[in-house]
Amino acid sequence: MSKKNKARWSLLPGIEPTPMDLKIMEAQEHGKLVPTRDLIKTPKQIEGIRKAGLLNTAVLDHVAEHIKEGMSTLEIDKLVYDFTTKHGGIPAPLNYCGFPNSCCTSINDVVCHGIPCDWEVLEEGDIINVDCTTIVDGYYADASRMFIIGNADAEAKKVVQVAWDCLKIGEKVCEQPYVYVGDTAKEITRLAHENGCTVVRDYCGHGVGVEFHEDPEMEHYGKKSRTGMLLVPGMTFTIEPMINLGDYECCNDEEDETGWIVLTEDGSLSAQWEHTYLMTENGVEILSH
Ligand code: MF3
Ligand code: CO
Ligand code: CO
Repeated sequence: MSKKNKARWSLLPGIEPTPMDLKIMEAQEHGKLVPTRDLIKTPKQIEGIRKAGLLNTAVLDHVAEHIKEGMSTLEIDKLVYDFTTKHGGIPAPLNYCGFPNSCCTSINDVVCHGIPCDWEVLEEGDIINVDCTTIVDGYYADASRMFIIGNADAEAKKVVQVAWDCLKIGEKVCEQPYVYVGDTAKEITRLAHENGCTVVRDYCGHGVGVEFHEDPEMEHYGKKSRTGMLLVPGMTFTIEPMINLGDYECCNDEEDETGWIVLTEDGSLSAQWEHTYLMTENGVEILSH
């Protein structure tokens, strides 16, 4: 076998193959993308990620308690920074590839990676995603929620609900192991389209835990099942579909010098929810709530 075609998964010498080994080997023989061994977390790593998930959830609960009309997104950022560090965590976004703050705050037509700032103030009818990632003892957990400020119109409420339903349907596909990333994408895409919404294609979910962004790439848009990576027990990853009311295309905010902020190209509303999951023998467990 040439180096290029080296198998991603191979049996451990001198050790009886496990049922998981056999399932992965079979998928690999059928040309499927299978994980490498380092993507299967050890019990110690899982405990670490679980702990990071608990603090990350507490951070988002803290935001949920305080977020309100008239508050600036920089005040949200301060809530996140202060709470996280007070409880022994590190906000992963801060200084990550030049990101200047402790969380992402994405309002209305901002798809993701919105940067908190003092002149951006929450108004009645806004929808905002707050995306937090927390490091505890070197382990990462990543989750985001939508908040609706006061009374919002029906369209705004709809996109928030559809994004939630898309997360939940992705999760439902993972109620057993040995499904593929493409199986989750197919269901998410079907549900979004059935509801007259679109799925952002330029950004996806990801493996998470030992690093902020690891393999696999968790695509949310797709039409073909049994594509993408096989999801096996011990893998930790996010599902975080970004759902637009209008077209799926995204663009950069031209006024943003950091290049981080992502907008819908047509100015339509966008919503997103995210959890960190552990795949187990009995399907996914949410590690971020
Ligand atoms: N939390 C985002 C995600 O879900 C990533 C944000 S990167 C940052 O993957 F630098 F903008 F924080
Ligand atoms: Co996130
Ligand atoms: Co993420």
